[in-house]
Amino acid sequence: TLVHGTEIFAAARKGHYAVGAFNTNNLEWTRAILSAAQEKNVPVLIQTSMGAAKYMGGYELCQQLIAAEMKSMAITVPVIIHLDHGNYEAAKEAIAAGYNSVMFDGHDLPFAENLAKTKEIVELAHAKGISVEAEVGSIGGEEDGVVGEGELADVNEAKQLAATGIDFLAAGIGNIHGQYPANWKGLHFDRLQELADAISIPLVLHGGSGIPQDQVEKAISMGVAKLNINTECQLAFAKATREYILANKDQEGKGYDPRKLLAPGTQAIKDTVEEIIGWMGTRPIK
Ligand code: G3H
Ligand code: ZN
Repeated sequence: TLVHGTEIFAAARKGHYAVGAFNTNNLEWTRAILSAAQEKNVPVLIQTSMGAAKYMGGYELCQQLIAAEMKSMAITVPVIIHLDHGNYEAAKEAIAAGYNSVMFDGHDLPFAENLAKTKEIVELAHAKGISVEAEVGSIGGEEDGVVGEGELADVNEAKQLAATGIDFLAAGIGNIHGQYPANWKGLHFDRLQELADAISIPLVLHGGSGIPQDQVEKAISMGVAKLNINTECQLAFAKATREYILANKDQEGKGYDPRKLLAPGTQAIKDTVEEIIGWMGTRPIK
């Protein structure tokens, strides 16, 4: 069932658990994420970055593909189609295309502009019941061309963004997109606590791949209700695909058949998503 984000995340923050947001790139990724959520009987977000949406053929196509797959797979768990790290234009396009939720990422704009544009997107989105995520501070590293300095979220700015009526807030708390460097110092729990004390909407933890499980669990217990995972699924897909290709390089048994070629990677994404959903404690929503 396609749903909007608001209700699911409010329940999650209250219940001290998180809902997973997994990035998709194509039909196989979408299917893997959907079947993992269905098997675990929990709500899930399927998100597209701007780059993935472009790769897949645009926001309308993404929305329709995910909705059509849900139908053909008889998916009954709540699913949110979400735009990940969208700029102003992308957020508007995704809203028009029928996404259930959008992230407007204005971290690279002067704060006043981030605030003003977030307000605009909230008005547009909420008129259609669509939930909105904003970003304060920044996530370090790079994801699909979106680059961040890893600046810690300012509590006062977080409060101002929360006052625009956004449904959840992504905050820079030392988290990084992609793989974590060996000398990474860990999440800034002091800042997370200040943010959680200052605002009551659910917080979003980006850069979920590679954060030690105990740190993620602690963050969830403090108010994080959405956990974003991308790289971990990419690594799992690449590893399984590489192994399959190496094992079938003589092309016996039709190892070149695309449906066979993509199957182990797809299964690896599903396994990864199920494992993460399992330990992050997502609960079914009635
Ligand atoms: O927006 C998506 C995420 O923050 C994913 O980050 O690739 O480090 O898991 P990750
Ligand atoms: Zn992110």
